[in-house]
Amino acid sequence: MSFPLNRPRRLRRTETIRRMVRETRLSPDDLILPMFVCQGRGIKDPIEAMPGVTRMSADNIGIEARETFAAGVPAVILFGIPERKDAIGSEAWNDNGPVQLAIREIKERAPEMCVITDVCMCEYTDHGHCGALAGGEVDNDATLELLVREALSHAKAGADIVAPSDMMDGRVGAIRHALDTNKFSQVAIMAYSAKFASAFYGPFREAADSAPKSGDRRGYQMDPPNAREALREVALDIEEGADIVMVKPALPYLDLIWRVKEKFNVPVAAYNVSGEYSMIRAAGRNGWIDEERAMMEMLISIKRAGADLILTYFAKDAARKLSG
Ligand code: PBG
Repeated sequence: MSFPLNRPRRLRRTETIRRMVRETRLSPDDLILPMFVCQGRGIKDPIEAMPGVTRMSADNIGIEARETFAAGVPAVILFGIPERKDAIGSEAWNDNGPVQLAIREIKERAPEMCVITDVCMCEYTDHGHCGALAGGEVDNDATLELLVREALSHAKAGADIVAPSDMMDGRVGAIRHALDTNKFSQVAIMAYSAKFASAFYGPFREAADSAPKSGDRRGYQMDPPNAREALREVALDIEEGADIVMVKPALPYLDLIWRVKEKFNVPVAAYNVSGEYSMIRAAGRNGWIDEERAMMEMLISIKRAGADLILTYFAKDAARKLSG
């Protein structure tokens, strides 16, 4: 049966009817706010390539986390910017490092906030790669030991979830084993399972000062054209004990969010990365796009594709828009 009997426009006539037949809903519960923590006190330092985002010292992170929770966002993910970097990134497991201090501040000021930590070496190494180097390449198995130390230090500081983003083989299993044998069996793992070598991380690398000094990350992050390999990565991470799996970036990989959601029965997270954020902010500031509508349309597309959780720098703005 078709026109004139069928007129889909009948259900688009008024906002009330559109509300009634809306298929996908975004909620502040779906959102996770990424935050950059630096050393010191009283610091709130704007990041040029990410208008509206700042690097903050732990005390300010605590204050901001409390406001974010009050806006309805249930979780943050922390990235550390240490003062000292070395070849193996040893500041990553300093129990008084920026991330560890920020976890404690957040637990004090917003005790119900779920605190997730990014577990990776690239912000902590002087060469900017995601692990220890050997012969010009990142040494997979030697890096596992470093990631384990970092994850344990975050767990000790009170992290609820650790999120390895390095793409080393076997890291989820190594971290799960270390947590379980050190009385942290309650700490969950959100694995960056299908993380692609993407141009969309550009602004983040300025924010975290984590660009590799030589070469690139294509020897460990995934090749953008590969979808079956992404499903294999997800399967391996679930086998190794991942509680939540992630696809990253989100927009250029919406097909994979959908496929992961269809195939696996664990929560699926998607990372709406820095480049996706900055494109909209920049176009909005130039008056080329309606920033708020573009933000909401982008987030709903990620949800519609199947994401249960969305990591986004827009988390607080979107939560306020949704509840106001
Ligand atoms: C690695 C990490 C990166 C991002 C999150 N974790 C950068 C990279 O792999 O180069 C990117 C996030 C973003 O672009 O918003 N620790």
